[in-house]
Amino acid sequence: MSHRIVTLAAWAVLAYLTTAASAQTTDSKKDDGAANQSGPTIKDAYKGIFLIGAAGDLPGGYSADELDLVRQNFNIVTPENCMKPGPVHPSENTWRFERPDALVKWCAENHIAVHGHTLVWHAQTNNWFFRDGDKAVATRRLKDHISTLVGRYKGKIRGWDVVNEAIKDGGNSETAKTENLRNSPWMKALGPDYIPLAFKFAHEADPDAKLYYNDYNIEAGPKHESSMVLLRRLVKDGVPIYGVGIQGHWNTARVPYEAIDRAIADYASLGLKVSITELDVTIRGASGGQLGRGRPRGEVSPPSAEDLKAQANAYAKLFTIFLKHKSQIERVTFWGLSDRRSWRRGQHPLIFDAANHRKPAYAAIVDALQHPKPEAATPR
Ligand code: G3I
Repeated sequence: MSHRIVTLAAWAVLAYLTTAASAQTTDSKKDDGAANQSGPTIKDAYKGIFLIGAAGDLPGGYSADELDLVRQNFNIVTPENCMKPGPVHPSENTWRFERPDALVKWCAENHIAVHGHTLVWHAQTNNWFFRDGDKAVATRRLKDHISTLVGRYKGKIRGWDVVNEAIKDGGNSETAKTENLRNSPWMKALGPDYIPLAFKFAHEADPDAKLYYNDYNIEAGPKHESSMVLLRRLVKDGVPIYGVGIQGHWNTARVPYEAIDRAIADYASLGLKVSITELDVTIRGASGGQLGRGRPRGEVSPPSAEDLKAQANAYAKLFTIFLKHKSQIERVTFWGLSDRRSWRRGQHPLIFDAANHRKPAYAAIVDALQHPKPEAATPR
């Protein structure tokens, strides 16, 4: 009898110690900014509201765990580089379809949609497009590029960023009244008509594709005003444009919430849909620069619990704004998969950490559905 009592007492003590130890571990994890790894996935939570996407040149070079992460969390993928003019069409008679074909096939097999990026850009575009030719030759090359690429994936790619980053950076009250177009090689070759022409060629190649103008920093200031001037022209001229991509490369310390809120409404007033196409919110003060130049993978200082909390708060505020405009917003795509698979690695910008674990921002975004951040949505 007394032996049984001793045994029961020993079990009780052991159970208490185990619970206390695990509570302590959880607490200390909380202090480290560790996030809950369970709960609904972001794509399921936002089903029927927005498509939730990630960028990446899938599946080549991605681990089985990473591909699982994509399947579980995202329902649309944007190729990060492989469909850009430089990689896919390096010279007039050379096309490199291996990676784009593999991406489209993998996404179809996994019931994931594809958003194409990007047909016309000033960067990652080889000079042959503009060499030894007049306006007619450049127009033919533009048409051939777009028709071949869009036509190849007709019905398989849901939409395209047709023209990327056409507006100059900065600006002032004078340029704000104009389109303030970048003096890109396309601009030099064809003038401002290259934009409607690109949309026309894309529409002819796949009339059902949703066609976007995509740019960064267009939510605020003179660049926003210029984007409105440009988009008004396109809409007025009947150009087959479906939406505007606000890229969304932001920093925790300086997210222009009010401007984003207003910009979405401005674009909607032109009859255009909006997508957040390249979302990442870097952590203030974190080391490392854009593209992680000179910084080998794995050599970045970890974010503090406070940093992660501030980032979670920023993402929650952003999604509260997106939800306010849910009837205008089609898709929210993160630019990369994890903090290891990001052009801004070193600045911890995404919702999965470098080991593919959910960060606090993940739960905060899901939670924004139930508990919106009221201070984020500014009344107009
Ligand atoms: O593929 C080559 C590889 O063959 C070569 O060995 C290696 C050596 O540096 O470079 C590889 O290409 C790199 C490519 O990413 C693929 O990793 C390029 O150098 C590098 O410049 C390129 O960076 C991309 C950048 O666009 C180019 O401007 C980033 O990954 C990509 O995230 C970034 O994405 C852009 C969007 O398209 C438009 N909006 C802004 C966004 C961020 O810059």
